[in-house]
Amino acid sequence: DDVQLITHALARDTLSKIRDTGTAQVPFRKGLVKLGRICGYEIIDGALETEYVPVTTPLTEMTGERIKGIENVVIINVLRAATPFVEGLLKAFPKARQGVISAGRDEESGMDDAGAFPISVDYVKLPTITPEDTVIVADPMLATGSTMCTVLEAVLNDQPEPANLFVLSAVSAPDGLLRVGDAFPEATLLTVSLDDRLDENGYIVPGLGDAGDRAFG
Ligand code: PRP
Repeated sequence: DDVQLITHALARDTLSKIRDTGTAQVPFRKGLVKLGRICGYEIIDGALETEYVPVTTPLTEMTGERIKGIENVVIINVLRAATPFVEGLLKAFPKARQGVISAGRDEESGMDDAGAFPISVDYVKLPTITPEDTVIVADPMLATGSTMCTVLEAVLNDQPEPANLFVLSAVSAPDGLLRVGDAFPEATLLTVSLDDRLDENGYIVPGLGDAGDRAFG
């Protein structure tokens, strides 16, 4: 499976701050925005190429560079914890088209024998995807991976295969990466941290708690 760590020092620094219980709602949310921006820059650096373009400076003509494909980006916001994370990504990809999907774990049902949760989907609004697109599905937490699998099914349903498909999370559990990687081998799984494990309630340990609750109250 294609799992890649985002190792930028600022990403690790920012993630460590938002993990801490001493980080209140506003700095938590701002931290997620910052992390999204850094992750966006890292995706640009790692996955997109540049091409040469002519530039006229006030003094002379020269050859400069531009990022290829940066205008063909689709970002999927998995409500609600991904909203600040996506706000940061949009700073790196200001022209991105955005899809929104509300998908959440049915916590009452608990984990099934396979370690997955039933997922309820309430709202789906997606842009049309083209074969040129880089699609980034963002959710700060990948725990059992149940939410992400449901989201990816909805995103890829009846659409052409995009040029690049990234699943981006801040913290991931091994189970979640395995589940998503098995079901969607075409996806590149990007995460700032691969955490140790899930607890009996399906929470990531050490994790950062419930990102939705911490960001929105
Ligand atoms: C959290 C998180 C993911 C999901 C991960 O959302 O933002 O969407 O859980 O868990 P999984 O990998 O086991 O499916 P939650 O359901 O708490 O919704 P919220 O963002 O609205 O708080």
